[in-house]
Amino acid sequence: MDDRLVNVEQISFEDEKSEISLRPSSWDDYIGQEKIKKNLRVFIDASRKRGEALDHILFYGPPGLGKTTLSYLISNEMNSNIKITAGPMIEKSGDLAAILTNLEEGDILFIDEIHRLSPAVEEILYPAMEDYRLDIIIGSGPAAQTVKIDLPRFTLIGATTRAGMLSNPLRERFGMHFRMQFYTHPELSKIIQIAGTKLDKECEKDASLEIARRSRGTPRIALRLLRRVRDFAEVENEQIIKLKRCEYALNELGVNETGFDEMDINLLELLVSNRGRPMGLSTIAAALSEDEGTIEDAIEPYLLANGYIERTARGRVASVKTYELFRLTAPITEGKLF
Ligand SMILES: Nc1ncnc2c1ncn2[C@@H]1O[C@H](COP(=O)(O)OP(=O)(O)O)[C@@H](O)[C@H]1O
Ligand SMILES: [Mg+2]
Repeated sequence: MDDRLVNVEQISFEDEKSEISLRPSSWDDYIGQEKIKKNLRVFIDASRKRGEALDHILFYGPPGLGKTTLSYLISNEMNSNIKITAGPMIEKSGDLAAILTNLEEGDILFIDEIHRLSPAVEEILYPAMEDYRLDIIIGSGPAAQTVKIDLPRFTLIGATTRAGMLSNPLRERFGMHFRMQFYTHPELSKIIQIAGTKLDKECEKDASLEIARRSRGTPRIALRLLRRVRDFAEVENEQIIKLKRCEYALNELGVNETGFDEMDINLLELLVSNRGRPMGLSTIAAALSEDEGTIEDAIEPYLLANGYIERTARGRVASVKTYELFRLTAPITEGKLF
């Protein structure tokens, strides 16, 4: 699983380094997610006109679709500082209090994996988001006192792969909710071409489209594949990335024509072998020796969005499309009867 080339969850050190250099620095270089961009534009312009901090924003969707990138771009547009942290890094309520009291007017606080905040930390966040106020309890027992501290007007941007795991009160305190979409092949192709130029290797259009087709709708994967293909081109002393080298490299790397890797194939095979009987998440996780969260966050969304699997009340089933992919006849699925 560690070297899963199309695994979006695991970010290697190399990924992180090059993601920073390949991260779009301007609004125009951020390709796709047009509806989100359009809405954000309106909100950003309006709040700038009013001279107010932007309302709190929640981004949700599978990893690698550009949530962090978009947050940086918003801070650019707002001309404000951005502080970055993540749910698991904020262990105690005091940690969050320290972060909040260090914010300045108009700052953006970005909390990645916000669904992983502990309930005690969330409690601190509610008044901070709603009234820009910090309630701290000093002492304990009957002598305990609540101290209220005013906070500067800041914008919280939360990102999560699992909107369903967010508590209702927290979700409701975000003024804007945006669900990230998978990218189309032409969009990914454009992202690849822009990144190719930054990497000093032009990528021909049909080559970039080929990488796009195998990227599971995800920019992070597209960029990772581009870097691998570039290595192949480099060894051959080729300045331009062409379709033939691209196909060769991707096949060598074991990335098949649909972009599926071993984990996707294993999951689909498992469902197909169950002949239309729905399978529960925990059964799937046990059969694949993978944790449920990874299956739900990183593997399933793309397969669901593209109609390879279906969710029924009783579990997951493979779709007709998947049986066709494996050149099998689909059974009359039990799932359809329920
Ligand atoms: N819309 C986009 N246009 C161009 N590049 C993108 C876009 N979205 C993501 N990327 C690239 O993909 C990488 C992963 O995106 P990131 O924002 O870290 O995803 P997330 O936070 O959703 O996991 C980024 O480094 C960036 O270079
Ligand atoms: Mg991120």
